[in-house]
Amino acid sequence: MNRNLSRLKKFEPEKEGLLEEILKGFNKPQKELPSKLFYDERGSALFDEISELDEYYLTRTETSIMLDNIENICSVLGKNCLLIELGSGSSRKIRLLLSGLQDPAGYVPIDISEEYLITSVNALASDYPSLRIFPVYADYTQPFSLPIFEFTHSKKVVYYPGSTIGNFNSAYASGFLSRIANRIGKGNGLLIGIDLKKDKKILEDAYNDQKGVTAEFNLNILQRLNRELGTDFNIDEWKHLAFYNSDEGRIEMHLQSLKDQNVQVNGSLTTFAKNETILTEYSYKYSVEDFKDLISDSYNLEKVWTDKENKFGILYFTVV
Ligand code: AVJ
Repeated sequence: MNRNLSRLKKFEPEKEGLLEEILKGFNKPQKELPSKLFYDERGSALFDEISELDEYYLTRTETSIMLDNIENICSVLGKNCLLIELGSGSSRKIRLLLSGLQDPAGYVPIDISEEYLITSVNALASDYPSLRIFPVYADYTQPFSLPIFEFTHSKKVVYYPGSTIGNFNSAYASGFLSRIANRIGKGNGLLIGIDLKKDKKILEDAYNDQKGVTAEFNLNILQRLNRELGTDFNIDEWKHLAFYNSDEGRIEMHLQSLKDQNVQVNGSLTTFAKNETILTEYSYKYSVEDFKDLISDSYNLEKVWTDKENKFGILYFTVV
């Protein structure tokens, strides 16, 4: 076994907890499913496909901001820092940092898809043989413990790219990041990617691609429930829906029922009316100023990098 995987830490989400969360979501007036359910192995692969679509500017823009500013970003992070990535997925973006950083002390990828985590860590370990890697299989929104680091490092930097923070509403996002701040402590860093507010058409196209990959990604959540929890969603009776809610400053993704139907979840039936939707994802868009204010109780904004068109921002904060 790869030496990095021998120290894989597991905090497997419990099925009962998941079931409870789903039933609770189905009992709300606006039915909902947690977005983290997207990321089983197939969903993670579909997301990688999304990230390469013409319409989905986010990943491409973030990567180009990284490339254009890599020296500056790495010098701000400083030498010998310990990188902790929330939702590491394919661990692609981290490679840019790893290649530019002076003497990184280690890398802690945290991901909710175990298979995906193992595959990407293996690839990374063979490309960066001297890098200490401490993979953690966990739902990072739930309690889990970090490995014990028995080596010196200049500081901890939590890397949270991709605008994934946009999945949470503002109140949750600020609470979540403040808990992170408490864990890593004063003076440590947060390098975070956020999608910026822009023209509605560009936003809506990014979540309604021509090839239908985003629709597939959204519908995969139902397939996963059928497979893992024995629900009986008929995928053909559901439709992908995504739009920008400008009052709230967020993209909303829903699954819309094409007819009146009942679905069995853990032995009990849930009724869906024709055209009723299940909310599957929010993707909040921010201005740099709004985001800075949102977390100003716990963080100080040190540096902002963005693209020419101001589509996306990479922000570096330190814990106050
Ligand atoms: C990975 C959460 C940043 O919100 O844009 C992509 C997920 N959803 N297409 C996003 C997603 C639909 C993505 N994040």
